[in-house]
Amino acid sequence: MEKLVIEGGLPLKGTVEISGSKNSALPILAATLLTEDECVIRNVPRLRDTLTMIKLLKSLGKTVDFTDNVLKVSQKGKLNHVADYSLVSTMRGSFCVLGPLVAKLKKAKVSLPGGCVIGVRPVDLHLKGLKALGTKMDIDGGYIHARAAQLKGRHVYLGGVFGSSVLATANVMMAAVLAQGETVIDSAACEPEIEDLTDFLIGMGAKIKGKGGPRLVITGVKKLKGIKHSVIPDRIEAGTYIILAAATRSNLSIKGADLTHLAALTDKLEEAGVKVFEENKILKVKTKKTIKPVSVTTYPYPGFPTDLQAQFMAMMALCQGVSVITDKVYPDRFIHIAELNRMGANIRREGVNAIVQGVKTLRGAPVMASDLRASAALVIAGVAAKGKTEIHRIYHLERGYENLDAKLSAIGAKVWREKE
Ligand code: EPZ
Repeated sequence: MEKLVIEGGLPLKGTVEISGSKNSALPILAATLLTEDECVIRNVPRLRDTLTMIKLLKSLGKTVDFTDNVLKVSQKGKLNHVADYSLVSTMRGSFCVLGPLVAKLKKAKVSLPGGCVIGVRPVDLHLKGLKALGTKMDIDGGYIHARAAQLKGRHVYLGGVFGSSVLATANVMMAAVLAQGETVIDSAACEPEIEDLTDFLIGMGAKIKGKGGPRLVITGVKKLKGIKHSVIPDRIEAGTYIILAAATRSNLSIKGADLTHLAALTDKLEEAGVKVFEENKILKVKTKKTIKPVSVTTYPYPGFPTDLQAQFMAMMALCQGVSVITDKVYPDRFIHIAELNRMGANIRREGVNAIVQGVKTLRGAPVMASDLRASAALVIAGVAAKGKTEIHRIYHLERGYENLDAKLSAIGAKVWREKE
């Protein structure tokens, strides 16, 4: 096991290159189960999570070649219908193989994903949608046993108590594309990653209307074909580096990001006095000496992303003044508060709110990574803090940030790894 060591307090400058979107690549990889043809997918980030999904696809009978961020997925024999606990339990995103397996094989045995530190993370909306299309499902031994003689298109409402669900939308879409007749999904997730999946499925020959909106109309087809596709940039990785620039009062350039996916973040940064704009397709972050405290509430897209909440809190910890942070998607996603306070932040929880009293400086300390984005918040705090920070359990970071050490070093951060 290794720890990430950061010597903080240094000014940052230069350019960060953004990788392909993890949360787009995962459902798109699952969608390759819908065809025996070869699919070539570019701009796939080499991450713990994408490698886990590749392992899962191989265990289901796919042949996968992954070289230089290009994935070639093909199939020789028949698919296997069992998605094993050992893989699904390590990465929740793999649950979205359920829809395509039922659509393709008419049966599937998929392990229920565990919860995680950010919340219970139920799958009731996934099951509700698949059941509506005619899937029979039992839960036994921690697995979903699903079977469907013939999936039939229906009207499905996928809104939950926390609003739309990204992966439930993906799962139901990937079942509906091969169902008989028309499926209407209301309260579909509008995230750019679902838009990217829609493009991928349409490229395979699926008939889908309403791309990117809350109502998707899908007309089932008999067969889908292979496709060549390039994954969209990772807006959460881009947002993480933009917030890093703001928290360290640095001016950074961000290459390969899509500014149109970041409106909620740039709007809040504008309020804080941080300018983010595009110049010849490169994002520029311009910060000032002081940053104003800004309150944030997260919502499903196009709202402020829950996956940037922890990072934004790390930045607010260093503002002069008080800000309130509320997560409407995962109300308990505050595990990073305790770790930030170990570095001298002054944050307290009051019910569903985190009250952030800004401080002048943070001080380096040994801290524990927990979920992927909380860990990113600790990296931001460590780079901004005076002194040395040691981040333990950095495998959490490796799930979602490609070449993190190299990207940080390239903009002047002093980071290295040591044995635990
Ligand atoms: C996706 O998870 C992302 N993961 C998460 O990113 C992200 O935090 C989340 O969407 C919200 O944006 C991937 O795309 C692989 P949801 P997902 O279903 O689809 C509740 C990261 O750091 N809900 O949109 O699993 C749920 O509890 C990860 O990259 C139900 O109630 O999230 C949550 O409160 C972390 N019933 C809300 O909906 C369900 O059946 C949104 O969850 C499903 C979800």
